[in-house]
Amino acid sequence: MEVVICKTKEEASRKAADMIAALVKKNPKCVLGLATGSTPVPMYSALAKDVKAKKISFKQVKSWNLDEYYGLPGTHDQSYRYFMNANLFDKIDIKKANTHVLNGLAKDWKKECKAYEAQIKKAGGIDLQVLGIGSDGHIAFNEPGSSLASRTRLVSLTDQTIKDNARFFKKAADVPKFALSMGVGTICEAKKVILLAFGKNKSDAVKAAVEGGVSQFCTASALQMHQDAWFFCDEEAASKLKLKKYYAWRAEGELSRQ
Ligand code: GLP
Repeated sequence: MEVVICKTKEEASRKAADMIAALVKKNPKCVLGLATGSTPVPMYSALAKDVKAKKISFKQVKSWNLDEYYGLPGTHDQSYRYFMNANLFDKIDIKKANTHVLNGLAKDWKKECKAYEAQIKKAGGIDLQVLGIGSDGHIAFNEPGSSLASRTRLVSLTDQTIKDNARFFKKAADVPKFALSMGVGTICEAKKVILLAFGKNKSDAVKAAVEGGVSQFCTASALQMHQDAWFFCDEEAASKLKLKKYYAWRAEGELSRQ
């Protein structure tokens, strides 16, 4: 696991975007795993700038998103499909047909989740997975207590997550209580993983994920077992890390070798 610590979230987002841009240049047909939340927004803006400047093209890229609220249609302004269209897909040259988000209205959620995993496998697996992190250390919607071997499934959200995400809805009662989410096992199969974490509110989660034990109580900690996982943090999110100076120095070398 490499930890890149930057002064600002803009700087961290640019560095993470550069890693994605390098992959897209090297392999224009790559498969991306994408994330929602406020955290990846500046990174998506940086990628949109690259497309506008004709530095990269997503014309042949395929994407699968991590998760979707269960019960929300993709047209709902808080659905993750809506978010992805507004914050990335409508701003780059990706073909909409090549973008995949779980169907939050699927009646047979087991069938939906199984088919989603099969689609990813058929596409050759995810080359690079983008992640944010919940304040309790969750990735996608793998809440504390999720098996580290979990696959795409229906999950129940914790009170903490509902509280954290209530800021996007009119009132807390409007936040869906369930979601469809890739599992920790699904995520860890990606060839490369980029996790972004910004702000003080994420410092405990980052500490537990990077320096705590590998545990289902902080599902991001499973990334300690991944061979190519990168955390891009601002100084606030990294503030509780014991070895932050060492990580910063080591990551500099690793980044230059990428
Ligand atoms: C939700 C999403 C996660 C995201 C998290 C943090 O729970 N399912 O993928 O990482 O929110 O969101 P934010 O980046 O807004 O803090």
